[in-house]
Amino acid sequence: MKKSIVAALVLFVATSAGTALAGNAEAGKTKAAACGGCHGMDGNSPTSSYPKLAGQNEAYIAKQVKDFKANDKRQNAIMFGMVAALTEEDAADIGAYFQSQTVASTAPFDESKLARGRELYKGGDLQKGIPACQGCHGPTGAGVAGIAYPRVGGQYPEYTLAQLKAFKDGSRSNDPKSLMRSIVAKLSADDMEALANYMASIK
Ligand code: HEC
Ligand code: HEC
Repeated sequence: MKKSIVAALVLFVATSAGTALAGNAEAGKTKAAACGGCHGMDGNSPTSSYPKLAGQNEAYIAKQVKDFKANDKRQNAIMFGMVAALTEEDAADIGAYFQSQTVASTAPFDESKLARGRELYKGGDLQKGIPACQGCHGPTGAGVAGIAYPRVGGQYPEYTLAQLKAFKDGSRSNDPKSLMRSIVAKLSADDMEALANYMASIK
């Protein structure tokens, strides 16, 4: 039952993603120079103040650029300024470039949180109605290229936790069909911390 609901949602988002532009990674490398100062030239940002983009999928990056630009359901003052001049083609090219990079193991995580994080990520929690995260984000956290299911593996736990909290308090509401908001509503603060640390540990 739960499985079929998730499968239906996956299918819905997959078909509603529409025809995205196919980016050019070579062109994207040059265009990404403006992003490297914070996100790292290879997408491995040097500090947890900025999320890693290495190995993140193109469709997801392009969608976030569009969302930051709209400055509505995902607002960030820094990124609003950064994306102002980007065309859809630029976003696709930059996305293709970062997708071609490899995420580095530089996100420190808290070992003591991993067991609970792994349990939820791999299997969800039937009692609380929480689906397994790997159903959409993949067993190694790599996300799903082609549709905008983001990589979550190898990310800084501080960033991941901040996003889970933002979905929970509604300050980030750009998830199609409330996919993430409906899930985080069922997660406790401890669950979110455990998950953020576990996701940092996989890739
Ligand atoms: C001055 C620092 C800075 C620069 C330069 C910068 N960013 Fe960001 N970026 C951020 C911050 C901070 C966030 C986190 C925003 C949040 O908390 O929602 C972010 C988030 C993002 C995200 C969302 C990542 C995710 O996992 O959802 C994308 C995509 C992104 N930036 C793309 C870019 C691109 C493309 C450029 C270059 C055109 C760029 N950024 C330049 C600071 C920067
Ligand atoms: C039915 C599919 C689905 C399931 C199950 C799911 N997610 Fe997501 N998740 C998404 C989608 C789609 C997005 C991107 C939303 C957007 O467009 O900004 C997302 C975004 C995220 C982000 C933000 C990533 C970033 O780079 O900013 C995090 C963190 C996340 N999910 C964690 C989880 C966790 C933890 C679980 C399990 C408790 C989970 N997800 C289960 C579909 C799913």
